[in-house]
Amino acid sequence: MKRFTLILVMLSMLIPVFSQENGDKKMDDFINKLMAKMTLDEKIGQLNLPGAGDIVTGQASSSDIGRKIKEGNVGGLFNIKGVDKIRAVQKVAVEESRLKIPLIFGMDVIHGYQTVFPIPLGLASTWDRGLIEQSARIAAQEASADGICWTFSPMVDLCRDPRWGRIAEGHGEDPLIGAEMAKAMVKGYQGDNLANNNTIMACVKHYALYGASEAGRDYNTTDMSRLRMYNEYFLPYRAAVDAGVGSVMASFNEVDGIPATANKWLMTDVLRDQWGFDGFIVTDYTGINEMIAHGMGDLKQVSALALNAGIDMDMVGEGLLTTLKKSLEEGKITEKQIDMACRRILEAKYKLGLFDDPYKYADPKRAATEVYTDPNRQAARKIAAHSFVLLKNEKQLLPLKKKGTIALVGPLADAKENMPGTWSVAADFSKSISVLQGMQEALKDQATIHYAKGANVYSDSLTEARVSIFGKPTGWDNRPEDVMIAEALEAAKKSDVIVAVIGEAAEMSGEASSRSDIEIPANQRRLVKALLETGKPVVMVLFTGRPLAMKWENDNVPAILNVWFGGSEAGYAIADVLFGDVVPSGKLTSTFPQNVGQVPLYYNHKNTGRPLPDGEWFQKFRSNYLDVSNDPVYPFGYGLSYTTFRYGQPVLSTNEMGMNDKLEVRFSVTNTGDYDAEEVVQLYIRDMVGSITRPVKELKDFKKIMLRKGESSQVSFTLDVEDLKFYNSDLQFVAEPGEFKVFVGGNSRDVKEVSFFLK
Ligand code: BGC
Repeated sequence: MKRFTLILVMLSMLIPVFSQENGDKKMDDFINKLMAKMTLDEKIGQLNLPGAGDIVTGQASSSDIGRKIKEGNVGGLFNIKGVDKIRAVQKVAVEESRLKIPLIFGMDVIHGYQTVFPIPLGLASTWDRGLIEQSARIAAQEASADGICWTFSPMVDLCRDPRWGRIAEGHGEDPLIGAEMAKAMVKGYQGDNLANNNTIMACVKHYALYGASEAGRDYNTTDMSRLRMYNEYFLPYRAAVDAGVGSVMASFNEVDGIPATANKWLMTDVLRDQWGFDGFIVTDYTGINEMIAHGMGDLKQVSALALNAGIDMDMVGEGLLTTLKKSLEEGKITEKQIDMACRRILEAKYKLGLFDDPYKYADPKRAATEVYTDPNRQAARKIAAHSFVLLKNEKQLLPLKKKGTIALVGPLADAKENMPGTWSVAADFSKSISVLQGMQEALKDQATIHYAKGANVYSDSLTEARVSIFGKPTGWDNRPEDVMIAEALEAAKKSDVIVAVIGEAAEMSGEASSRSDIEIPANQRRLVKALLETGKPVVMVLFTGRPLAMKWENDNVPAILNVWFGGSEAGYAIADVLFGDVVPSGKLTSTFPQNVGQVPLYYNHKNTGRPLPDGEWFQKFRSNYLDVSNDPVYPFGYGLSYTTFRYGQPVLSTNEMGMNDKLEVRFSVTNTGDYDAEEVVQLYIRDMVGSITRPVKELKDFKKIMLRKGESSQVSFTLDVEDLKFYNSDLQFVAEPGEFKVFVGGNSRDVKEVSFFLK
């Protein structure tokens, strides 16, 4: 057995050479020839990815970056925007550098380009692979029309701590959702052929475990067992690799005591050798330099560590550019390693078709006609509406009628720059539509809106200034709180119904926007309280980039619609849902806790040896808290509709499944309400006994179905043994015989169950 494994290992070591020689012979010949002409400096230059700085078109050649490009010291640039600028810089590379190697242009196209889609946490809430792929497809089309051929997306960091601001950029707490979203996005960006001029290379990030930073504080330490990595946190990265992602970005955090950027086990053993990744790896922003502060050595040392680990490209910090030659002289690295990294970057450029036409992605005609088009905006509006999650709807307060008078209040009701949310670097904020505008457009003259701001985002201007950045002013209002509330009450008095648009401003989530308090800011809550005291019906439209602790709101406000940050067209989409032109169908992919003390709170947890019995609040010597129950406010998978659905009892095709069998789960779903609507049907399992402890529930599949009112449909899912496998203590991927439960339902809590045995 041991000898067999050794042979396998030796064979797998040969595979890169084999595929390099035979995989794409034309590419290999081309790159071999090119590299034969390259000096060591030029090879190292390809590994360098500086930011664009403040390049302007006319001076591209004479700028500092221009000089470096001419000298062959730049492989690509990132976050330079606009087709003219990009053409000008590319011209310097292909006309003024010795070997005329084109540059690769990257950008954080995270949830759309100029047509902006919901933040990824919102996109995930659609539970719709097709819509997510479509959003990435459109983003790629627009970005590639404007000069970009590489995006730093998808971000697939699993996260169970809503304090972390970057939870907004990922897909929530579940490995399967993360993996499905990763696949859909890679497919959307890269299409079937990277060489097409409307597809771009994806970059899955941040590899790995960045979403598990301690205390939800950004850039903080992570530490977790390999079992948890392999069974949970690795799945989305792996799915992106399986889907053919062209590049991977290293994360800032450490993994097993070594920063990811210097972690050979992570970058080479797992990513390349176990998963077969054959693209290139880029660091995160100054990721190499930051290892000095991590305590890994000086710039020369940490740069050599990064190359040795398997890093190919250095974002911004120029550690590789400035130290590799010296490390080579000292024997700390080999020329072969530099060659390999350089080759991978040249391969990416080749695959993108840049050697055939360096201006392929910078066609001014396309830039003028293919960006922010009506069809793209229509798609964004539809996708936004599908991402909203109806959290509460007492007495069917929603949808609202298009008549009478509506008080529209809250700091986010007329805040158009805040609509696209965090990481919308290519958005044109002047074009986004506020909630006020969207509602006015929907109502025309059928109803009257009385608008009042009612509150600032925060009660103090200092905290508010911290989130009033990146061109997203929150419009701080100097008036005292009670004056603003009084104005809102005036508007309320004149109205039949109150719509309160409150929550987080866009930059309260995203990078370096962690919060230790995840409630709605107290001054906004005071506004809502005052509005409720009028006795008029209140609908809360909630903006947020993370799960919030909203026990008070859930207990007191009759209707709550969570709209995340829905993108450039969200103003229209919010009106579509509020007035019932679209029936909400979004479901949470991240648990909303009662308070921050329960964090991390997630549905797929382990049972412990002292679980609290279902429905109980507290028992001494059980796993619980004195002051809060273990329940969330809104569980994973949860989201209401304007209609209701009834699930039938699931039936299995067999109660005993062999290792090579498939098992069918069938059940009915009936639309029992008054609206035609979509429902996200969810399938979970529980492995009852294992050689390691297993989660109390694991999502295994989901489907979105459309049912007309009164209609009933048979739904079926198929499970095979792959769905039942997990990594055991020896990190072998196995399925173990024994009892399994199967659960079906419209969320992770309210389910019907049945069980079977795996033989
Ligand atoms: C972020 C990355 C991003 C990069 C480039 C970093 O600070 O962590 O997600 O792609 O900046 O903008």
